[in-house]
Amino acid sequence: MRIDKYISEFGIASRKEAARVAKGGGVIVDGVAVKDLSKHIDPDCTRVIFLGREISYSKFTYVMLNKPEGYVSATEDSKLPTVIELLPEELAKRELFPVGRLDRDTVGLMILTNNGQLAHTLLSPKHHVEKEYYFTADEPLPAGAEETFLSGVTLADGYECKSARLVLNDDRKGGYITLTEGKYHQIKRMIASLDNRVTSLERIRFADIILDRGLARGEWRYLTGDEIASLEAASNHK
Ligand code: URA
Repeated sequence: MRIDKYISEFGIASRKEAARVAKGGGVIVDGVAVKDLSKHIDPDCTRVIFLGREISYSKFTYVMLNKPEGYVSATEDSKLPTVIELLPEELAKRELFPVGRLDRDTVGLMILTNNGQLAHTLLSPKHHVEKEYYFTADEPLPAGAEETFLSGVTLADGYECKSARLVLNDDRKGGYITLTEGKYHQIKRMIASLDNRVTSLERIRFADIILDRGLARGEWRYLTGDEIASLEAASNHK
């Protein structure tokens, strides 16, 4: 297998990024810095070190996408474009799926993987993984909204939300909400329970992973090794 393919399939960098790193001496193959990544290696018996980290072939891929409006967070849809359509063909082939859903009009951080077990654990309510959003609303939120969110908002259908952190902007017409659960339209319904309406919603954090502001809406990148490790840690935390 070509070295650049090996590196990109490991999910640590695209071929282009790998070529750039190799030029700077950051790709070591069996102890030797290699600049030409078109060379072939035997994946079963070659030691590849990428930017100081030993990598071995992994069947799993992890991607961060800055989701734009208008895309559904599903792998298929009969009418609407899906987030998968924002990925290049070689990634789409790897059967990635979104870790949790965002509404069609919600933008921001979306993690995609083909590691079903990890995704399942991260989304399980037992694991209390934090998801942080930035929102704006039609009207200022009332005094005491922060405490209401902390003690648990009751939605129109009677569901009692888990404790959530609300940090408002000075004008109280928007701010940050951190949830540890993910019910359908949860933030829109929490704000609606205060007779108000969400006018924009962006996810900015999932567990310890922060939306990379270097990505424009619709752009993606591989998660770094540290980010993957932090997801694994979040999935082990109860
Ligand atoms: N809450 C919502 O209302 N919508 C989302 O997309 C995410 C959280």
